[in-house]
Amino acid sequence: MPRFNPLLTQLRTYPAIAVDEAKARLQKAGRTVYDFGKGDPAEPPPEFVREALVSGVDERLPYPRVMGSDAVRESIAAYMQRRFGVLLDPATQIVPTSGSKEAVFHLPLLVIDRNAPDRGVVFPDPGYPAYQRGALFAGAEAIALRLEGDHILRPECIDPEIIARTRMIWLNTPHNPSGAVTTLEDLQRAADFCRSHDILLVSDETYADVYHADPPHSLLECGTNGVLALHSLSKRSGMTGYRSGFVAGDADVMARFRTLRTNPGVVPSDFVNAAATAAWADDDHTEDRRAIFRAKKALFLAMFDALNMRVIGREASLYLWVAVPGGDDEAYAKRLLDIGIVVSPGRIFGVEGAGVGYIRLAMVPTIDECKAAIAAWTEMES
Ligand SMILES: Cc1ncc(COP(=O)(O)O)c(C=O)c1O
Repeated sequence: MPRFNPLLTQLRTYPAIAVDEAKARLQKAGRTVYDFGKGDPAEPPPEFVREALVSGVDERLPYPRVMGSDAVRESIAAYMQRRFGVLLDPATQIVPTSGSKEAVFHLPLLVIDRNAPDRGVVFPDPGYPAYQRGALFAGAEAIALRLEGDHILRPECIDPEIIARTRMIWLNTPHNPSGAVTTLEDLQRAADFCRSHDILLVSDETYADVYHADPPHSLLECGTNGVLALHSLSKRSGMTGYRSGFVAGDADVMARFRTLRTNPGVVPSDFVNAAATAAWADDDHTEDRRAIFRAKKALFLAMFDALNMRVIGREASLYLWVAVPGGDDEAYAKRLLDIGIVVSPGRIFGVEGAGVGYIRLAMVPTIDECKAAIAAWTEMES
C-alpha cells in the first residue's frame, strides 16, 4: 500500500461535500429538497456567453497558455477600470485562472519556504476552507484568525508575534460565509500595513458583484504595489461549471505567479477564455442577477425578522449568515433537514471553533422554492 499524505486524512471532509451528502440522503428517501447548502446559483449565464464558448471550440485546440488570450486579459482590464476605476496593464498585471479556488489553493506556493520559521499564512476564520487547505498543502503554518463582531479581518490588529512569522494574509470581501464587506479605508490600512511588513496581501473578491446597495471596493483601488486580488465569474455570471476567474495586481508579483503557473498545468482552456471575454465585457446580466438575489434575500430577511433571528450578512454575497436560536448550529441544521431544507451549519466554515451558533444559507433555489421553504420553516418554528 502506498504511504499517503497525512493531510488527506487529517482534514475533515470538504464542507461542500458533506452538505451534498446530506442532500443526497434526502433525495434518496424521495423527499422534496430545498438546497441552500452549496453556493452554486441556479440562474444560468446569458446565452451569449454559451455561444462564445461554443464558437471558441476550434477544430484543433493546442495547449492553452498560462497568460490566456490577449482578448480575455483586455476584457478583464476594461472590467476593472469600469467597475473599480483601477487601471491595469493586461500584459503584466492579469492572469486568467480556472476559477478562483485553484488560485486560492496555489497562491501560498508563491511565498512559502516550508523550511523557514516565517511561513505563516493568515486567513479569516470562519472562512472559505481553501485558504487553510492551500496553506497546509504548501507546507505553510496555517494561521486561522478568529473573526468577531463585524467579521472584518484587520491585519494591523494582528498580534505582532504572529505578524513576525507571517508571509501572506488573505482578505475576503465580500466575506463568505458572513457577507461582510471591508471598507476602502480598512483596505487601505491593510495594504499600508502589509507593504511595510513585506507581507503579500491578497484579497479574494469573488463576490464583488453580488451586493445590495453600495458596490464593494477592490483592494487594487489602494494601489497595486505588493498586493493581489482574485475575481471569478462563478457567482457574478452564474458560470461555476466553466471554471473561470483571474488574479491581478503587482506586476512583479504577477511575473512570479506566471512562473509558478507553468508547473501545475492548471490553465483555463481557450474556449473558456472566449466565454470569459464575453462575460467580463457585460454588466447588464450582472445587474439582473443582483436583482434576483436581492429578491430572494428580502423574502428570508422578512422571515428572520419575524422570527427574531439575527442576520449578519445583509450587505453582499450570495449568503445569509444567521445566528440560530439556542446556539447549536448542527442541531438546528438537522431540524431543517427533517423538513427538507438543506443549510450549512456554521461550524463547517470554522477552523478554531469559529462559526458555531450560525447557519449559512446560499440564495440558490428559485424564488418559488424559497417561498415554499419559508412556509415550511415558519411552520416548524410556530
Ligand atoms: C470566498 C470564495 N472564494 C473563492 C471561491 C471559489 O470560487 P470559484 O472557484 O468558483 O471561482 C468561493 C466559492 O464558493 C468562495 O466562496
